[in-house]
Amino acid sequence: MKSINVALIGCGFFGQQLALAFQKSGAILVGVSDLDQALAEQLANKCHCKMYDKFDHLLAMEKPDLVLIATYNNTHFKLAKQALKANCAVFIETPFTLNHIESYKLIQLAEEQGKALFVGHLLRTLPGLQKVKTLLSEQALGKLTVVRANRQRWIDSQKNEDWWKNNIQLTGGKLLHEIHELDLLCWLLGDVESVYAQATNRAHLEYPDNDDIIQVLLRFKNGIFSSLEMGTAYRLHKWDITIHGELGSLLINFFTSTITLTLAIGERQQFNLYDEFEADLSLREHSKGVQKYNQVKATCPFWLSRATEIEAQRVVDDMRAEQKSLLSEQIHNAVCVAVAAKKSILQGTRIQVKYC
Ligand SMILES: NC(=O)c1ccc[n+]([C@@H]2O[C@H](COP(=O)([O-])OP(=O)(O)OC[C@H]3O[C@@H](n4cnc5c(N)ncnc54)[C@H](O)[C@@H]3O)[C@@H](O)[C@H]2O)c1
Repeated sequence: MKSINVALIGCGFFGQQLALAFQKSGAILVGVSDLDQALAEQLANKCHCKMYDKFDHLLAMEKPDLVLIATYNNTHFKLAKQALKANCAVFIETPFTLNHIESYKLIQLAEEQGKALFVGHLLRTLPGLQKVKTLLSEQALGKLTVVRANRQRWIDSQKNEDWWKNNIQLTGGKLLHEIHELDLLCWLLGDVESVYAQATNRAHLEYPDNDDIIQVLLRFKNGIFSSLEMGTAYRLHKWDITIHGELGSLLINFFTSTITLTLAIGERQQFNLYDEFEADLSLREHSKGVQKYNQVKATCPFWLSRATEIEAQRVVDDMRAEQKSLLSEQIHNAVCVAVAAKKSILQGTRIQVKYC
């Protein structure tokens, strides 16, 4: 079997998950690097690989097949460019980049270099969401009419002004930093034509830039209407996507880790997001409680580390088979829509989505 040598830049909360998941998937972790050398050293010891204080040394010495990027969002573009130019395939954590021009440039560069470019949209790789994709492509709901997505929870302000996740210049803001549902809408439904969005900060005033209520209205090129409501000012939690069609509806419920297909003719089918008892249970247990992830020094819940393993296996299998990955398709779209939504919030008008 073809061996895949992997290097990691960014050894924080999620970089650590990626390192373990890729090792478990049969890839060989050859080196890690981080601005925080102690953190990189710690991970290198745990994973029995080398630590490099400079990313360019890591690339030059190890010549990895694949580079994993799990650094601050605003650094993804520069590091990915460097890795692609060094002839490596690249896996970038979400969000892909902070704007559509950067993501377009990376896609072009990857094509020129003949290298794969993956974005860590891990929800796409879960068995339940794969089944949703198949059901929609088989027209199980007939013509789609309207879709509603919600990612609503309460999160207390983090009392750490220096933390990069509180700095909108580094994260790009919530529409990009928490891009998973927007990505699922784009991946499942097609290209978005235009967007109207509004946002405000009602309950997290310590961080003036940190909108805690975001409402987005999307009009797709194929005529579907959709909405996305997200934020951290919601005392009653909700995390789901409902897809309505002429023949029935599909409810993706992240709280119960289930997907329910209900057809107007009276048939009903239910399946789980993971199809693995422990992972489905972990998601259920974590969903409704106080949100503990996305905090400084957070530990990773099992459902998320298991999703990372499923995703890593997918990337390694696709690289071995030299086949186009579902983590490489339509990776640009959600960034383009997020950029248009941010512009709409600023201008107060509907914005056409630009794809390059
Ligand atoms: N897919 C998901 O569900 C998911 C979950 C969590 C985080 N993420 C993404 O993973 C990335 C990392 O997030 P995190 O939670 O691990 O943050 P983190 O703060 O725990 O880790 C980030 C690490 O990157 C390092 N770093 C930053 N810039 C660097 C540079 N230029 N060179 C070398 N090292 C650099 C920092 O020192 C830090 O150790 C982010 O893009 C985040 O959005 C995705």
